[in-house]
Amino acid sequence: MNDLCTVILAAGQGTRMRSKLPKVLHPVAGLPMIAYVIEACRPLQAKRTLVIAGHQADKVKEALAGEAIEFVSQPDQRGTAHALLQAREALDGFDGDLLVVSGDTPLLTSHTLDGLLRTHRETRALATVLTADLPDPTGYGRVVRSETGGLLRIVEELEATPQERHIREVNAGVYCFAVQALFAALQKIRPSAVKGELYLPDAIALLRDRDGGVQACRVPDPDEVRGVNTRAELAEIHRLLWHKTAQRLLAEGVTLLDPDRACIGPLVRIGSDSILYPNVTLEGQTVIGEGTTIYSGCRIRNSTIGDDAVILDGCIIQESQIGDECQVGPYAHLRPKAQLRQRAKVGNFVEVKKSVIGKGSKVPHLTYIGDASIGERVNVGAGTITCNYDGFTKHQTVIEDDVFVGSNASLVAPVLVGRGAIIAAGSTITEDVPADALALGRAQQINRNEFAAAFRSKRQKG
Ligand code: UD1
Ligand code: MG
Repeated sequence: MNDLCTVILAAGQGTRMRSKLPKVLHPVAGLPMIAYVIEACRPLQAKRTLVIAGHQADKVKEALAGEAIEFVSQPDQRGTAHALLQAREALDGFDGDLLVVSGDTPLLTSHTLDGLLRTHRETRALATVLTADLPDPTGYGRVVRSETGGLLRIVEELEATPQERHIREVNAGVYCFAVQALFAALQKIRPSAVKGELYLPDAIALLRDRDGGVQACRVPDPDEVRGVNTRAELAEIHRLLWHKTAQRLLAEGVTLLDPDRACIGPLVRIGSDSILYPNVTLEGQTVIGEGTTIYSGCRIRNSTIGDDAVILDGCIIQESQIGDECQVGPYAHLRPKAQLRQRAKVGNFVEVKKSVIGKGSKVPHLTYIGDASIGERVNVGAGTITCNYDGFTKHQTVIEDDVFVGSNASLVAPVLVGRGAIIAAGSTITEDVPADALALGRAQQINRNEFAAAFRSKRQKG
């Protein structure tokens, strides 16, 4: 079997989006659009994956940092064929199959890509193009076939005749090529008369009459090939993928009280017997266990939540980990790297950032915990603040097991509160507290007997 390399086209600006952000970085359910394309390609285990970046290439690279990707630059974007030509040098010496995908088709599935590749290999074609029959083909390249059904060429909408515009079979912008034949064909592509761009779909007509020829592979679910070129299409993509994900989750044993108001990204996984109230947004690679309930108005992104947890209304949870049987909210904000261990509780109007809340510990009300490590069975009173920032650097607060922090304490980091200690309410703690000690860090109270009554009577007389 031939080796496989993948090229993802992502250099275009996306003029029709009317945006400062490069099109492939527009978020779809919390992840950049191109991330879904990469995800769909992953199971094919290509030897190499190349991304063609051009418009704001730095931003694209930054967004994809950490992926096993090579970037190829297309500084001036002169069309999809021109984009692919930029990869010629990088692919020098490679003589296998090349899968070419657009970065703007986030609904593509691995299953479809696998089918395309299989057709390509079985037929030993020089090029195999993915197509779909769309009820409304507006904006797409149309697939022109001969009377006997053979693939002739692809014509872009701008250049199509009125008859050709009636064709409903469209080019998905996804192809497999025999790489050497492709680069030979790309050399021959001439700029479009209308846009002056070099069109990759023109390679089909050029390869058609050569030995091996070209094939089309029709995808059964036409929604999969939808490209995003406008904001309206971006909205439509969300509608489709939320609907699809909701149907999958219902089938997997998840209760969605209103599937039409479940904004759940396609990579999200949820265990059975979990219950989602209406208007919950789950983004990115979020994983939720079994028997967990999430109430309305929560937005959870790239986070893990265990089994039998309860997330009350209105919480924002980002890049965090929540253990089994935890309770969060209502109106809690878990910022990146918040870790709640089993049965921990984070209550209303609490913000947690880059901190561990140990097993069974409670931070029930109106508190900020940042850069802290809290042990097990700790109780943090209402209004407590970890003062983690001195204006220059962030510092750590360590609270060991079984500590009781009274309400409205300020813990000025770096500071350590030893196991079993008690912090008196209203204290400002600037020094480490030994284990089992009581720390009082507040002005001593003075009571002046009868002062209030005397004061009142003086004022009334006055
Ligand atoms: C393209 C196809 C069209 C197909 C449709 C499917 C061409 C000429 N047309 O049209 O037949 O029906 O996709 O969605 O290919 N890009 C570059 N460099 C460039 C230009 C584009 O990297 O110079 C990238 C874009 O970032 C994008 C992809 O290629 O990810 C496709 O470009 P786009 O402008 O969206 O093409 P469409 O008009 O959608
Ligand atoms: Mg497009």
